[in-house]
Amino acid sequence: MTPPQAQIAILDAGGQYCHLIARKIRELGVYAEVLPSDTPAPHLASRPGIIISGGPASVYAPDSPSVDPAIFRSGAAVLGICYGQQLMAHLLGGRVAAGERGEYGPATLQVLRPDRLFRHTPPRQRVWMSHRDLVVEVPSGFSILASTGSCPIAALGDPVRRLWGVQFHPEVAHTEAGRQILENFVFDICGCRRDWSVRGRVAQLEAEIRDAVGDRNVFFFVSGGVDSTVAYTLCLRALGPERVSAFYVDTGLMRAQETEYVRSLFQSLGAEAFMVEEAGPQFLSALAGVTDPETKRHIIGEQFIAVQDRILKTGHFLDAQWILGQGTIYPDTIESGGSAKADVIKTHHNRVAGIQRLLAEGRVIEPLRFLYKDEVRQLGAELGLPNEFLRRHPFPGPGLAIRCLCARRRTAVERAPNGFLIPVYSVGVQGDSRTYRPILATENPELAQEAAELINRDTRINRVALLLGSAYPLNSFSVFPAQLSAQRLEVLRTADAIVRSLSASCGFDDRVWQFPVILIPAGVQDAPDSVVLRPVTSVDGMTADVVPLPAPLAGELTHRLLALPGIAAVFCDLTPKPPGTIEWE
Ligand code: XMP
Repeated sequence: MTPPQAQIAILDAGGQYCHLIARKIRELGVYAEVLPSDTPAPHLASRPGIIISGGPASVYAPDSPSVDPAIFRSGAAVLGICYGQQLMAHLLGGRVAAGERGEYGPATLQVLRPDRLFRHTPPRQRVWMSHRDLVVEVPSGFSILASTGSCPIAALGDPVRRLWGVQFHPEVAHTEAGRQILENFVFDICGCRRDWSVRGRVAQLEAEIRDAVGDRNVFFFVSGGVDSTVAYTLCLRALGPERVSAFYVDTGLMRAQETEYVRSLFQSLGAEAFMVEEAGPQFLSALAGVTDPETKRHIIGEQFIAVQDRILKTGHFLDAQWILGQGTIYPDTIESGGSAKADVIKTHHNRVAGIQRLLAEGRVIEPLRFLYKDEVRQLGAELGLPNEFLRRHPFPGPGLAIRCLCARRRTAVERAPNGFLIPVYSVGVQGDSRTYRPILATENPELAQEAAELINRDTRINRVALLLGSAYPLNSFSVFPAQLSAQRLEVLRTADAIVRSLSASCGFDDRVWQFPVILIPAGVQDAPDSVVLRPVTSVDGMTADVVPLPAPLAGELTHRLLALPGIAAVFCDLTPKPPGTIEWE
């Protein structure tokens, strides 16, 4: 799909929120694109608006992302968000200082001065913060527009030079008036016109696919996820089932019944060449004895490469009559190559030599490469994909492996002010970096309100988990040596199936965006594992809130899960993202 020339350029300063900004602007009907932060001003000349994204760096760090200062004199309106605000202030003569502890989570913004940026928004509003440094002195010509309790310069502006900055994140759903603020910037300030929608584009996409493919055939590696399935369906419709092949790799790390589900989905789409590659034993033996989370992820990536390589060779897909179809969406194109600065938030495994060769030769078709996930879902609906499939919760590529925590040695739990520290290492995000730290297990449901604050205050922990039920007292718990065994994976698969079925039957499933179930190696000698429930709401996985489990569902789940072999306790994760991630590894 050939998109229009973007009216708004988002300069990527390395933040995980960068794409979210572009998406939110597209939702307003204005095509936006993400460019490297140091894109020279002349390349941006025709854009009415430029946004500098957030990012993990400090403006004083030696290699921190910067922008061409000429953009501030180019006549385009510029909005700096978070790091973007700090960078703007720093480059224009203001002062930025290190915050003491950082601030991650909700805050109340007080608008101090009327400004077009805050038009139609309340004087006091809930905003979302995720930062360490702060602007402490505005550059000359700027005014302070808003503040929060711990951030005196939460928004600044110089309407004469058409420059604005906000320390909070207007692009995340938790910022109450965020959409209005972006709308004010895009329409009132930049004067953009509406030029973007994916509606009614199926025929155009199919014609483009026919053009690009010519008389060749297309093969896909599909995952059962929305992106690869929508890309595949487009090609199937454009070229016919005899010219499109699909391979699905069963890693042995899938949920219960997943392979059967994907097989019947593809059958219903009209697939004639749908092949399942059984690779479970290969993945499990490569992962045997490995406990480190990032090593697990790495090995899974390597195994994917090996399997894909094998399929490429045995199917002769490198021959000239084949090209590769991929469900690559817009953020993937930026993360994996476009921007050198994006922190590694996810592990990508598109490094197969054969695939690299196909990419280098231009023998790849990626019909969704300009689109965001929600735009792909809209397309999927137009293609007649079942609603129940398009609404499926996201599921990570590395599968249950990153929800089955492992440990090398036995360690006892440790008493802490609000409960017990359980030394299983789970991942969290502070700013844009990932850390592995123990969890705080508590029996006090009141802590649900302060989980983020507790984690921001106590650097030993990444998460707070509420005990829902246990046959043993928490003080008798230890972490036990544990691996990614077929047997532990089976317990997790059963636990996950129980949770999915009960959560679907009472309608709770529709209220959550994702509901990971995690197995942690914490318990007692006879029951060395516990189950953690992680129901969250989110718009896109960038930030997430905990969804409280209704008491009857929590009760029933606890009862059923405690009956599984080797399970000592059931917990519910109380941690929003940030500071926790959605997945535990
Ligand atoms: P986190 O854990 O970073 O997850 O808060 C955000 C979203 O990304 C998914 N996720 C992955 N998806 N491969 C994937 O395909 C991965 O390695 C991966 N890691 C996390 C996660 O399930 C959530 O939806």
